[in-house]
Amino acid sequence: MAFDVAHVRAQFPMLNSAEPIFFDNPAGTQVPQRVIDAVSDYYLHMNANSGGGFATSKKTDAMVQSVREKVADFLNAPSPSEIVFGANMTTLNFSLSRALAKTLKAGDEIVLTRMDHDGNVAPWLRIAEDYGLVVRWVDINTRDCTLDLDSLEAALTDRTKIVATVHASNAVGTINPVAQIGQMAHAAKALYVVDAVQSAPHVPLDVQAIGCDFLLCSAYKYFGPHIGVLWGRYDLLASLPVYKVRPSKDKPPYRWETGTPSFETIAAVGACIDYITGLGTDFGSEYASQFPQFSGRRLALKTGMTAAGAYERELVTHLIEVIQRRPGATIAGITDPTRFHDRVPTVIFTLEGHTPQQIAEHLASHSIFVWDGNYYAVEIMARLGRSEQGMVRVGLAHYNTHEEIDRFEAALQKL
Ligand SMILES: Cc1ncc(COP(=O)(O)O)c(C=O)c1O
Repeated sequence: MAFDVAHVRAQFPMLNSAEPIFFDNPAGTQVPQRVIDAVSDYYLHMNANSGGGFATSKKTDAMVQSVREKVADFLNAPSPSEIVFGANMTTLNFSLSRALAKTLKAGDEIVLTRMDHDGNVAPWLRIAEDYGLVVRWVDINTRDCTLDLDSLEAALTDRTKIVATVHASNAVGTINPVAQIGQMAHAAKALYVVDAVQSAPHVPLDVQAIGCDFLLCSAYKYFGPHIGVLWGRYDLLASLPVYKVRPSKDKPPYRWETGTPSFETIAAVGACIDYITGLGTDFGSEYASQFPQFSGRRLALKTGMTAAGAYERELVTHLIEVIQRRPGATIAGITDPTRFHDRVPTVIFTLEGHTPQQIAEHLASHSIFVWDGNYYAVEIMARLGRSEQGMVRVGLAHYNTHEEIDRFEAALQKL
């Protein structure tokens, strides 16, 4: 079946009327009914702590294991034991950076990029400060907001221990060549940490194809609940000196999950992976030949995300045309339609004569929800000379429509 956005929207209670228009997706997406139901189902049938000998505790443990399997399929992870749940991406990354720091010594180097969200910058800056590590920065090409790979090459030395980059930018939308960056990092004998928070809602993820050592994402960005996910190579998850309490299990993934997990949210992650699997079943068959190595749920997850991504490229083409038609508009990021495979449908812009905040407030008064400011992408805003006011961010998801973009254009015209 061709991608049917009405069928998609019917599954999301918050999308059951024409207003408001949710273009704030990079900050968090809406959820389908099945995600909401999974939370109440958990409280009605399972609510208990883990590890008990009685029915509700056993059900909780079985549920968590089955959700780890689903997330492993989503990321093409070799094992569900490599899937760690935590409060959010940022908290998990602080935990990861602290554990890795214990293996480093003063003078060791970390490579960070000017494109990253602070969730993949601050954890590394803090350990650099605490352990006397050297930080080397990878620049961006300001013309099209891509990563400057020459500057990455120049940043790698025989003291580089960690390379941390974003997969897709939460500001300019650029998708970075993560498999290539992984090879460069490994050639320098460094570990590679990928922030996939903004790629997860738009492109099929595959930790084995990327060849990274750690990857982090957050389910609330891909139609699920507020919870973070860390994937790590099993040997590293098993051996790193993570901060944990003494009585908790000392094997992956448990040794990384401090305290009692948010079980109801984990249950909802399972429902969100089921939702994406359903996208593959409904709309993905024409993409199956792109993934000969997969079958079953792994295949459906890949084809579902591919179908959503193809529809999103139509939407972003429309959105960029609309913004470019407006006199005085400037977009930061890739605007050449032949390169839209290298971006997600997150578009930032400025308009002469209006501050980003004024534009966002004007659109809000027309029930169109967009973001303004820096969205924690501090470095790239500084690099683009937009530290003070930031830019307007319109972030689409596969449940948005062309008609919503037309209404966005009409509202912009009234500014
Ligand atoms: C690219 C990117 N990385 C990291 C984060 C932080 O994620 P979390 O809110 O789960 O800590 C965000 C949040 O917007 C993001 O967009």
